[in-house]
Amino acid sequence: MDKRLKEKIESIVQNEKMKQIAKFVLPSPLRREIKKILVKRNVNVIAREETPCEDVEYDSATPISHIKRMQVEITNKCNLKCKMCHRQKLPQHILNQEIDLKLVEKLIPACQNADYISLSGPSGEPLCSNNLLNILDLVNHYKKDGSLTSLNTNGILLNEELIKNLFKRQLGMIIVSIDGVRSYESLRNIDFTKLLINLLAFRRIKLEMNSITRMVFNFVAMKRTLPDLLDIIDLAHFLEVTEVNIIPLSPPSEEWKKEEIIDDTFSNEMLKKAKGYAEARGLRLIFWWDFEKENKQFGSNIRVSAAEEKINTPLCDFPFNYIMVTPNGKVWPCCGFYGTLESSLNEATTLDEIWNGREYTELRKKLSAGIIPSKCTNCTLLRKKFN
Ligand SMILES: C[S@@+](CC[C@H](N)C(=O)[O-])C[C@H]1O[C@@H](n2cnc3c(N)ncnc32)[C@H](O)[C@@H]1O
Ligand code: SF4
Repeated sequence: MDKRLKEKIESIVQNEKMKQIAKFVLPSPLRREIKKILVKRNVNVIAREETPCEDVEYDSATPISHIKRMQVEITNKCNLKCKMCHRQKLPQHILNQEIDLKLVEKLIPACQNADYISLSGPSGEPLCSNNLLNILDLVNHYKKDGSLTSLNTNGILLNEELIKNLFKRQLGMIIVSIDGVRSYESLRNIDFTKLLINLLAFRRIKLEMNSITRMVFNFVAMKRTLPDLLDIIDLAHFLEVTEVNIIPLSPPSEEWKKEEIIDDTFSNEMLKKAKGYAEARGLRLIFWWDFEKENKQFGSNIRVSAAEEKINTPLCDFPFNYIMVTPNGKVWPCCGFYGTLESSLNEATTLDEIWNGREYTELRKKLSAGIIPSKCTNCTLLRKKFN
């Protein structure tokens, strides 16, 4: 473990309260063994890997019940100003929105069938929402048994009361963004210790309440964060995090392109090493692109072979089984389309009208025919293959 990280943890556990917390969070050999068995049995499979698209009828009207994954950005307010985040490019006047509960009610038909419901989006921090717990109650009331609810958060606003409230509502998964240890503070302009204290509290309360909520890390991989990846794996192991998502940087501007790691030989070596390091600790690293170029399939959603083989399988299955809804009621097939579609959920429209409207239908037709819409050429998952 990195010396600085170790020192930080040690300094935190100096005071009495933290000593108590540490007693709970230190992984016992028994719990570690149980975790290894669960990982082996693949108990922690995440929803997007469980939604094959072969059985979807592409050309005809698509029922709402085909929506298996939903991402509802309940607010686009944020407590941070991370340097690499695309949010910084958006006009300030649209960045203080909360979703109206009437709009959330319009999503109930989709909520009833979805396997995966996330209450976060690409430009906000869900813990900044005043309605988070109310919306979680609503989703819990309508969602089907066994579907997974989740939040992607920077974790800074977590506190004892909020953690308990999330546990009481049986939140399925909390995805915490953590981009390194040394690199964290320079990217996110916030003290790393603040996050660490919250994560330790989360672990302690989880044990106290015997909660089912599991914690996952999101690590944005770029040249400046990769040297910290082994430390993050150590920390994840220490906190009994179940998976670490490795997300390639989507550069917010030209100057960030030098930070990209896709196809960089030195970065690939570091990633291979990290993969082995994590496996030895019973931890799964989930790469959001095929850095080892082993699979024909990119991630779990992009079927690159479709264009080459001209078969009627979509290049990407997002428009067939996924929606993202932003606080202003816009419905998107993925975050790459952010800001480009007109469809909007409001008092006069229904989700069905958008899901089977011109924009969604045209997109499905193109992808089924192996045509890449111009918007998709910037997609990190597709780009490497078709450039
Ligand atoms: C935009 S954030 C919104 C949720 C929350 N505010 C957070 O930071 O976790 C969603 C995810 O995108 C990641 N992210 C931010 N900027 C990115 C970029 N330029 N490329 C790829 N991922 C990025 C974040 O680390 C986070 O895991
Ligand atoms: S990455 Fe998340 S926390 Fe950081 S500015 Fe973007 S939305 Fe806010």
